[in-house]
Amino acid sequence: MTESHPPRISKAVIPAAGLGTRFLPATKATPKEMLPVVDKPAIQYVVEEAASAGLDDVLMITGRNKRPLEDHFDRNYELESALLKKGDEARLAKVQESSDLATMHYVRQGDPKGLGHAVLCAAPHVGNEPFAVLLGDDLIDPRDPLLARMVDVQERHGGSVIALMEVAPEQIHLYGCAAVKPTDDSDVVEVTGLVEKPDAADAPSNYAIIGRYVLDPHVFDILRKTEPGRGGEIQLTDALQQLAARYQSAADAEGKVGGPVHGVVFKGRRYDTGDRGDYLRAIVRLACEREDLGPDFQAWLRSYVSEEM
Ligand code: UTP
Repeated sequence: MTESHPPRISKAVIPAAGLGTRFLPATKATPKEMLPVVDKPAIQYVVEEAASAGLDDVLMITGRNKRPLEDHFDRNYELESALLKKGDEARLAKVQESSDLATMHYVRQGDPKGLGHAVLCAAPHVGNEPFAVLLGDDLIDPRDPLLARMVDVQERHGGSVIALMEVAPEQIHLYGCAAVKPTDDSDVVEVTGLVEKPDAADAPSNYAIIGRYVLDPHVFDILRKTEPGRGGEIQLTDALQQLAARYQSAADAEGKVGGPVHGVVFKGRRYDTGDRGDYLRAIVRLACEREDLGPDFQAWLRSYVSEEM
């Protein structure tokens, strides 16, 4: 008899339908995911991350004003033929890069009723298999891979896996927060409960949820019944809290439907490109580290800091 393995995770969902109000007025007519980080839109780093973790089927959840996202991952024949005519192969390759990354699909969220609601819009496309969620405004440095480790952990334990990062206690009210138990792996914890944006005094830990998830499809059943929570939005954290609580309290395998929730503790570089300060930090850091731009830019930055600050 041949052993049956669960299907390898191949689908990534990228919610990018938020209003981006922290970045107004830049985001009045332009999606925040299209703001450039050096010379690539933020969203391209996210799709590249999914593709390099082996997830080549990407569903983007979009909304109003999000048309440029679709155009960016499509071919642009006019531009390509102009570059071809000029013999500018280097730039031609840059233009073609984004359309060759993955098989792209799009669905519109309609009303941005929250991250949980955005993820629920993916249900018909995802079907009954585990899938990854990458927030379109969360940039993980490509040199600090996180998603591949999360896929490994999901394949080993089943259920769902979230990404956690330790933050200072005074920052925890900005994030979803996890109550955890250790496991045998130093970078993996079992999640026993979750709370969205708690006050520091009520936070069960300093572990903040960041924008990468590998989810069991049972989360859709829960999301369908999840009422709006904090900020009047349907929160993904609330649905994951229910998954974790159900697993922790169930007496038998039948009650543990949906499996456990684990967390991978991330210690690498991560930027919230929807936040203006973090966006600037991402650009400065990535520009300094670029071979082509770095040396000149660093020299300028040094003199700017020593003379002007
Ligand atoms: P955020 O809360 O960071 O995004 O949502 P936002 O609402 O666009 O930003 P601000 O606070 O107004 O500046 C996290 C992620 O969830 C997506 C966002 O696009 C972002 O990637 N999202 C949020 C949706 O796709 N739909 C929603 O209804 C809400």
